[in-house]
Parts: sequence; structure tokens; C-alpha cells
Amino acid sequence: MDNKINILLLGSGGREHALAVKLAESPRCGELYVAPGNGGTLEVGENVALDENDPAAVADFARGAEVGLVVIGPEAPLVAGVADAVREAGIACFGPGAAGAQMEGSKKFSKELMARAGIPTAAYGSFTDEESALAYVREQGAPVVVKADGLAAGKGVVVAATLEEAEEAVHACFAGAFGEAGATVVIEECLTGPECSLLAFTDGKTVRPMATSQDHKRALEGDLGPNTGGMGVYSPVPIVTEAEHAEMERIMEATVAELAAEGIDYRGCLYGGFMLTEDGPKVLEFNARFGDPETQVVLPRLKNDLVEVMLACAEQRLDEVELSWRPEWAVSVVLTSAGYPGSYEKGKVITGVEDAAAMDGVTVYHAGTAVNEAGELVTSGGRVLDVTALGETFEAARNLAYEACEKIDFEGKTLRHDIGLRALRGRDAWK
Ligand code: AMP
Ligand code: GLY
Repeated sequence: MDNKINILLLGSGGREHALAVKLAESPRCGELYVAPGNGGTLEVGENVALDENDPAAVADFARGAEVGLVVIGPEAPLVAGVADAVREAGIACFGPGAAGAQMEGSKKFSKELMARAGIPTAAYGSFTDEESALAYVREQGAPVVVKADGLAAGKGVVVAATLEEAEEAVHACFAGAFGEAGATVVIEECLTGPECSLLAFTDGKTVRPMATSQDHKRALEGDLGPNTGGMGVYSPVPIVTEAEHAEMERIMEATVAELAAEGIDYRGCLYGGFMLTEDGPKVLEFNARFGDPETQVVLPRLKNDLVEVMLACAEQRLDEVELSWRPEWAVSVVLTSAGYPGSYEKGKVITGVEDAAAMDGVTVYHAGTAVNEAGELVTSGGRVLDVTALGETFEAARNLAYEACEKIDFEGKTLRHDIGLRALRGRDAWK
């Protein structure tokens, strides 16, 4: 019996290339459409020009192309209600509707939900006017964390070491640096400790946590400089204790239970961003989707058929699924355009991707790439490529990833050389 289904994947980053590769590996994958896709996704599926944030356009395309599963990569379509429109069209969808997407779309919403569920997180205040926000910041003192409430591509957070920096960040938010996203500002207690991401599949009832991973958010080596979408990542996180792991799993389950109790039907990936503090793991943020670049190290380690797992989430039968993981370590280094997360140039010719990808254990996921009129692979974004390596030890995976990075070149190629270095040194490296 042919039980293949056509799949439509939304998005265009490294996460989507990793999702596309894993979906295409499944014997159940028929046609794979990626909208809009990038220079990597067109190697495993068909890129289609479609406005991923337009619910009606996505549902119409899915109906016309006889799609049986829509997978939503980024946050913007989720917040725009694309999953709701797809489900209304009677098509299975992996990704929460607009109500569930508020977990990421509004920091205020997720903080309030955490408070109702008694989930450990940083103390906070939320403000819609500059004067009260500044008064709160002065009362709290530095260090303190200033966050734009809405979506800001991972760049709307300032960890302010001084009061001046915090005041400046508050001012920038209200002055419109993040547009509507900054009309409400959340100010948080500054937590310290190693960070750990725990992504989980959920069908709104059952929660299946994935392997742990750790992103590197700051632009510069030594975890300095501005926050970015992520500069490199590894999985699993070796410094997590069993007790911490159990507590993170408990928090993910309590969160999904709270969503369900509040009438929110959440089917997709829930991303828990944690800080492992001296008082135990605390939630820094939730995202309503897979992490980028976390996906690029988590999915290559997943042994399950991703189409089956996603259908189980969409059809609320995740209780039938157990996840299993490859024992290898995965490390991924992000190659960025010079200037990122500020302004950068595009259209630079990229060489060496095939050489790097030919190395045993290496996969090069495309993030911001395109193919120009001359047929050359060129840069088209701030994060350009994610070079992922699997190895029998953490060190082997890390060395292999950096060796592969050396084979790739483009004008302005920038990378952090210290991805995974602290974890390799052990927990004390965070003291
Ligand atoms: P978010 O988008 O809320 O996860 O914030 C991005 C990054 O800012 C996190 O990964 C942390 O590195 C940092 N961060 C966020 N909230 C806090 C906090 N309360 N204390 C310390 N660092 C934080
Ligand atoms: N890597 C962080 C995120 O996906 O939000």
C-alpha cells in the first residue's frame, strides 16, 4: 500500500533545511514543498514562492497540492494563525494555532501563564509606558534584563550590566527599535548559570522531550557582544545533572498541562529555554517552534521517522510514540556574514560546501543562501550556513565541525571558534 503523503514545510532557514532533510528521509514522504525555502532545501524538495505568513494562501496551496501534512518552521506564521487556517481546511498541521503561539509571541503572556502554573522563572514586571519601566529598572538595579514583549528574531533582549545600559534599552524599546514588538517591555531579574534548551514534541496531551542542546546566543567569543539568533550549538548537554533533567521534563509537562487546562490545543514543538541556576532550572523563555540552530543538532540524532512523529502530534496519538536517539554527539557551528546581527552584505559567492559535506559525519545546512542567476550559491542572510558534525565523543564532533568550516569560504565569513568550549571544560567553566 502506498501511504505516502505530500508535505508542505514553511520557512527558509537552517532549521528548515534540517527539517526538510529529515522529512525527505521518511518512506512516507511524497512530494516535499518548501515555502519559500533556500539554496539547500531545493536539493531535497521543491521550493515554492508562497507567502508563508498568509493563512489563506498557505491553506489554498496545501489543498491544491493535495498536501497531507503542513509543518510550520518559524514563529511568524504561527503567530499569524497559519496553523488554524490549515486545520480549518481539514489538513493535518504540525505547529500550534495563534492562541498557543502566544507562548512565544508575547513574553507577557508566557510569564503570566508560568505564574499561574507555578513554573520557576525569573521575577519580572511588564510595562507599557517608559516612565514606569524606568522607575522599576532603577528600583531593581543592575544587572537586569530588558526584553521587547513581541517577536524580535532573538534580538529583542538586552542583558544590561549597568543601570545606564538598562535605561538605554528601555528607551530604545519605547522609541520603536523593535516596532510593535517593543510597545510592551518586560523587565526581568538577571539569572546566572549555564543555559540549556529542551525541545519537546507534544500533541497537547502527551509530551515527548527531545535530546538537550545548548545554543550560543552572543555574537562574540567568550559570550560577549549582542544577542543573535544563535551562533553555534551542540547536543546533548554534558553538564546537565539527572535531577536538572528531570526538573526540565517536569516543567515541560506542567506547561503543556496548563495550556490544555486553559483551553489551548497545542500540537507541535514546544521549546523550553532554561537557565540552570543554583536554585534549579528556571525558564528564560518558551518558543512555539523548533529552535534554530538547535534543530540542526537535535534532528540528526533522532532515530525516529519524523513524518510519523509529526503526524502523531497532529492527530493526538503521540502516546503511541517513543523517541530514540543516536549515541553520537553533535556540534554545529554557524557561519555568518560580517556585521551580523547588525547590517551585512548579501550576494557573496560561497565555495567549498560540497567538500565540507563530503566529509564523513558532516552535514552542511543552508540558512541564508540562494542561487543567483549565474547558478552560483550566494549568501542571502546574516546566518549563512550551519556546519554540523557527528562524532563518537564531544571533542571529536567539535574538531570535525571546525575542520569542515575551514573548507568553506565567502567574503565576510565570520564564526565563533569557542562553540562548546565551556562545556568541554565542565560545569566550573560557568563560575
Ligand atoms: P530570550 O529570547 O528571552 O531567551 O533571551 C535571549 C537570551 O538572553 C537568553 O538565551 C539568555 O542568554 C539571555 N537572557 C534572557 N533572559 C535572561 C534572564 N532573566 N537572566 C539572564 N539572561 C537572560
Ligand atoms: N536558538 C534560539 C531560538 O531558536 O530561539
